[in-house]
Amino acid sequence: MIYTIGGIKGGSGKTTIAVSLAVVLSQMGRSVLLVDADIQATATEFSRWRTESLGDTGFTSIQLAEMQVRNEVRKLKANYDDIIIDAGGRDTASQRAALIVSDAVIVPFAPRSFDIWTLEQVERLIKEIQIANPNLEAYAVLNKVDQNQRDRKDALQYIKEGGTFECLKAQLHERKVFANAAASGLAVTEAKPKNPKAIEELTALVEEVVVLESKKRAVA
Ligand SMILES: Nc1ncnc2c1ncn2[C@@H]1O[C@H](COP(=O)(O)OP(=O)(O)O)[C@@H](O)[C@H]1O
Ligand SMILES: [Mg+2]
Repeated sequence: MIYTIGGIKGGSGKTTIAVSLAVVLSQMGRSVLLVDADIQATATEFSRWRTESLGDTGFTSIQLAEMQVRNEVRKLKANYDDIIIDAGGRDTASQRAALIVSDAVIVPFAPRSFDIWTLEQVERLIKEIQIANPNLEAYAVLNKVDQNQRDRKDALQYIKEGGTFECLKAQLHERKVFANAAASGLAVTEAKPKNPKAIEELTALVEEVVVLESKKRAVA
């Protein structure tokens, strides 16, 4: 499956989720290609840190830009079980090229800094792409969730009312371990000391994505 982790807001957790998916899916025995399509190249940094920490990432990582994202991913897709594209935080040619070849886009939203304007803009982008790629499923995931239930409920309601996204049940809370683990090139499932809640959240997210996509494949 080809997943783009996208959206048009910086700092929502795209890279964190992209690299975590790459780690966990590869540890499930799947062959994974991580494509860094963001000029900020944070996913590539992560892979470098991971190589320093572990000697090997466990997946393949490359950097691509603009139409090369579409062209190269099309050529490479037969070689991998999963391709995960970190598309960066703006409506760029690279993100559009990623969405054109993807089976699913996962857009993280942080409930605290949630704004309707961002949602509408990303919905417009996805709807435009779905004309050319009707295969594209759109999932929203809440990330950096805090104790404020009101913000969380409001964000979920806005996303549902928008009608473009299916909201994932899995949510990641704001936890320092997500940032600390990434800085060592690790997913939270690997970080020591273990943080069982963070591990549970990430595992649930990956499992939910895998189940949704295998259902989709069964229907196709
Ligand atoms: N659930 C989380 N809890 C705590 N920090 C997080 C969480 N998700 C992301 N972060 C941190 O927030 C910052 C932005 O996340 P990042 O994944 O780089 O966002 P993006 O790629 O969307 O710009 C990073 O410092 C990252 O470590
Ligand atoms: Mg990023």
